[in-house]
Amino acid sequence: MEIHRSKLMEFANRCLIAVGVPEQEASIISNSLVEADARGIHSHGLMRLPIYIQRMEKGLIRREAKMVVEQENRAAVVLDGNHSAGQVVATYAMNRAIAKAEEYGIGAVAVKNSNHFGVAAHYAMMASHKDMIGIVMSNTAPLMPPVGGAEKIIGNNPFAMAAPTDHKYPLVLDMALSQVAFGKILYAKSKGLSIPEGWGADKNGNGTTDPRAVLEGGFLLPLGGPKGFGLALMIEVVTAVLAGGAISKMIPSMYDLTQKQSISHLMVAIRIASFTEPDRFKQMASVLSSYVKEAKKASGIDEIYLPGEIELSLEEKRNESGIPISDNVIAELNRLAETLQVPILASNHS
Ligand SMILES: NC(=O)c1ccc[n+]([C@@H]2O[C@H](COP(=O)([O-])OP(=O)(O)OC[C@H]3O[C@@H](n4cnc5c(N)ncnc54)[C@H](O)[C@@H]3O)[C@@H](O)[C@H]2O)c1
Repeated sequence: MEIHRSKLMEFANRCLIAVGVPEQEASIISNSLVEADARGIHSHGLMRLPIYIQRMEKGLIRREAKMVVEQENRAAVVLDGNHSAGQVVATYAMNRAIAKAEEYGIGAVAVKNSNHFGVAAHYAMMASHKDMIGIVMSNTAPLMPPVGGAEKIIGNNPFAMAAPTDHKYPLVLDMALSQVAFGKILYAKSKGLSIPEGWGADKNGNGTTDPRAVLEGGFLLPLGGPKGFGLALMIEVVTAVLAGGAISKMIPSMYDLTQKQSISHLMVAIRIASFTEPDRFKQMASVLSSYVKEAKKASGIDEIYLPGEIELSLEEKRNESGIPISDNVIAELNRLAETLQVPILASNHS
């Protein structure tokens, strides 16, 4: 069912406010979830609202943010998120990085004791909207083995980078460090398809093309083998190790309702005007984008896309037409509303 963005925002806000999240913080969290659905990243959309709220009810995520700047050294800041909501912490941290970049040309905020912050691109784009380059990284609970391993050691740590152009959209790369998301393995299984080599391994760490072997105790594999694993590991270093936060196996799954998560992030903002004339930068970034868009196409290809373009154009369309939310997610959100005693999102039959 397609539902208008404002209705989804109102729904998520009333659920979060019902459990004691202050209005302004609720709106930051709701916007992250609704924006993900609008951009077609449904794995980070409203389907996450129930688990966020369960974690708040168990005291694993603070309902009201209480962040502490632990250290500040010119352009460098260490922020203790104090187990506040990931989106609220990440927004605060990127705003702080942007303010530092205004002053010093570059700002970096290392964050510890945060939570899942949703889609990384959002924070990188906060910087690109201000004529800055935004770089965002986060660690997550471990999900992937090292190369040759058969134990979860490293998360599919997200990495996002956004740069302004004078075209319609900024350039926005936003990716997880696993070859594919779990959803793609689930889809292959449901269709009885095999998966390409390199997507997953079985419980013994051996590569497999059988999606069932990945789902039954196996693992997602890092993007591009050792290179992706190395990149995920280095993200762990510049987030958690730098901030003094929890690493690797110290981080429980988001679905473990007995422990706090302690996620770390790194937010970097680079002020373009401190390096070059912003108009020139944006013009050259647009020329580069045009080279990509107008490149000779491989046979059978109708259009070449820039990083971020698919998601941002989808969002623009869905802001008008409404955002598709699956029946399963609507049913789960309605159950959540009933337990919180707030009006449901929508009837599946309306
Ligand atoms: N908060 C967390 O802990 C966490 C963890 C993992 C992932 N995530 C989020 O999950 C989301 C999905 O990650 P993903 O790796 O599955 O994304 P993806 O594979 O769908 O896209 C990765 C990048 O490739 C680009 N892209 C995709 N198809 C393209 C095409 N045909 N041509 C040109 N560019 C193309 C996208 O614009 C994007 O920048 C991200 O938003 C990420 O931040 C968050």
